[in-house]
Amino acid sequence: MAIFTSLLSFVLPVHCDAPYPWQIGFQDRATPTFEGIVELHDTIFFYLVVISFLVFWMLSVIMVKFSTSKVGIVHKYHNHGTLIELVWTITPALILIAIAIPSFKLLYLMDEVNSPTMTVKVAGHQWYWSYEYSDFVSADGESIEFDSYMVPESDLELGQLPLLEVDNRVVVPVDTHIRFIVTGQDVIHDWAVPALGIKMDAVPGRLNQTSVIIQREGTYYGQCSEICGVYHPFMPIVVEAVSLEKYLSWLDSQV
Ligand SMILES: *[C@@H]1O[C@H](CO)[C@@H](O)[C@H](O)[C@H]1NC(C)=O
Repeated sequence: MAIFTSLLSFVLPVHCDAPYPWQIGFQDRATPTFEGIVELHDTIFFYLVVISFLVFWMLSVIMVKFSTSKVGIVHKYHNHGTLIELVWTITPALILIAIAIPSFKLLYLMDEVNSPTMTVKVAGHQWYWSYEYSDFVSADGESIEFDSYMVPESDLELGQLPLLEVDNRVVVPVDTHIRFIVTGQDVIHDWAVPALGIKMDAVPGRLNQTSVIIQREGTYYGQCSEICGVYHPFMPIVVEAVSLEKYLSWLDSQV
């Protein structure tokens, strides 16, 4: 089934913005942040493959060439080799630096929140999320606020995803700098949407911020990622990225 789904994704232009059974890869990227994360993963994976092959190759050679059946007394090879010791100390250090540089670059790029066009405040509760669009106020001065609960399995409609669908989605425009301010109201939650590259702790009494620019329209699914109590698995997140026109008409329907 999983193989079928991933084969299907090559054939059909359908983006993977929610997990599927037995998935081992990433979801499809929708933000520059997540693109950077996947790229860093691939970079590090390259070193991982090279090092693994090298280590297993050396181990096998040693096991074959220096087995007691071939060389009677092994301890006579015990010796110091200054050159080889220098090489196997300095090379890993250089590899670590080669990994650290792109890693820090990504870290600081993700940390940056530069002049966002709009702000959405996210608050984690036991056990639901609430959202506030404080940039926009209705005629009577109220800002847009709503709670977002999971749709229970018995109420699901055909095509909706179990444990991932919510009653009120977070609707945001595409190609817009959006700032999410994340906080917790009772215990620590974590607002995580994989395809957007967001995983942000929601800590009571503190505000965390992150910024995204969503590059394609879509419905992005996420879940709370910090064990927050018995209903921790039942407070999913759904972000719906729409065109600016659709977003504005959604705003109108909210005020
Ligand atoms: C959010 O805030 C908490 C506490 O202030 C901190 O530990 C955490 O690293 C912050 N950032 C993210 C990405 O969760």
